[in-house]
Amino acid sequence: MSILKDKHILLGVTGSIAAYKAADLASKLTQAGAQVDVILTTAAEKFVTPLTFQSVTGRRAYTDSDLWGGEAHVLHVGLGHSTDLLVIAPCTADTMAKLAHGLADNLLTVTALAATCPLVIAPAMDGGMFDAPATQANLATLIERGATIVGPAEGHLASGLLGKGRMSEPAEVLGRIRMALGKKEKLADKKIVVTAGGTQEPLDPVRVLTNHSSGKQGYALAQAALDLGADVCLISTPTALTVPVGARLVPVRTAEEMKNAVLAECADADALVMAAAVADFRPKHVAADKMKKRDGIPQIELEAAPDILKAVAGFRLALSEAEGSKKRPRVVLGFAAESRDLLDNASEKLKSKNLDLIVANDISTVDAGFGAETNRVTLLFADGRKESLPLMDKSEVAEVILRTVATLLE
Ligand code: CTP
Repeated sequence: MSILKDKHILLGVTGSIAAYKAADLASKLTQAGAQVDVILTTAAEKFVTPLTFQSVTGRRAYTDSDLWGGEAHVLHVGLGHSTDLLVIAPCTADTMAKLAHGLADNLLTVTALAATCPLVIAPAMDGGMFDAPATQANLATLIERGATIVGPAEGHLASGLLGKGRMSEPAEVLGRIRMALGKKEKLADKKIVVTAGGTQEPLDPVRVLTNHSSGKQGYALAQAALDLGADVCLISTPTALTVPVGARLVPVRTAEEMKNAVLAECADADALVMAAAVADFRPKHVAADKMKKRDGIPQIELEAAPDILKAVAGFRLALSEAEGSKKRPRVVLGFAAESRDLLDNASEKLKSKNLDLIVANDISTVDAGFGAETNRVTLLFADGRKESLPLMDKSEVAEVILRTVATLLE
């Protein structure tokens, strides 16, 4: 969550029933480490109170009454200049119109006019208003000026109508805020392919051979890449996790499917982060029908599954120089999950798989590896450098790894 740590976020709340969702957004931003100041319009105060926001942010929530106080002449300029990002959620058609035309008749719009930071808008309005030509023209103006528009979503509207106009969910808005902040970061304009989860090799229509990978580290890596501004393709087996907002998911199950997806996505990728736990062996024959007890205990013959990293690394050798540079990402990173001889095994894999970096991961303890929230890893580089990290949250480990990838790409 560190992209939001100590960031000043200004949250504008306008007069929509979706204002209740803004309290959740303020809470999520605060939990992620941001300092959240809130401005409510007079219409927003009909739905929620400043106290609602002060209670979740621990900071002042401003209203139009502050526009005429003793410090009024500096308040809007101060808020507008000290903030890293202005998000208006929910944003009514009226406020969108004011923003598009530079009107400044309340504390929120006057602050928005003074602000020079990125602007994220989550529109919310009732049936037909979003599609109205005036709203669409205002939207186009705001997009052209660089604003990020989140939603609105389709669904039940307050009027009882079904349509497009619901404010996007706070988790979606939060994800888009992270992406907007990431635009200035080191991986902006870079494509990063991340693999996650444990592959599933079918035995018959109901059974698979798989492993304990939860996908947590891979999903955290995808989020860390997004936070640094990357275009992220997440190639994942089924997991219980939510795909980070902004990542493009390519769902796969088997090692073969993952290999095909990785090779296709690597054609224009800058880096491959191979966090998936890929099967080394798979059943040689997949039964067309469910294997029945009455037929006795099956003898399962295994064969080698494709080694994806080796296939990617091989492109540099197999293809012509020009084609090779297109196919092999400039940085290829693997993981080595080991229960013994961690560093020896990892450095052997670093060489044999022709990697730029390997993340050695001791899975013999409960606080690291499969399913845990934390991880303890050592980074081994192709040039012989070694960096051991202490026990950290998987999201922190992910951030260190992606910052390292960014440095290698420089
Ligand atoms: N990997 C891969 N394709 C495979 C197996 C592994 O691309 N068929 C990748 C993993 O995603 C990981 C790295 O190779 O990034 C090392 O995986 P690991 O399972 O630790 O090593 P293996 O090569 O499978 O060797 P072993 O299981 O014998 O330790």
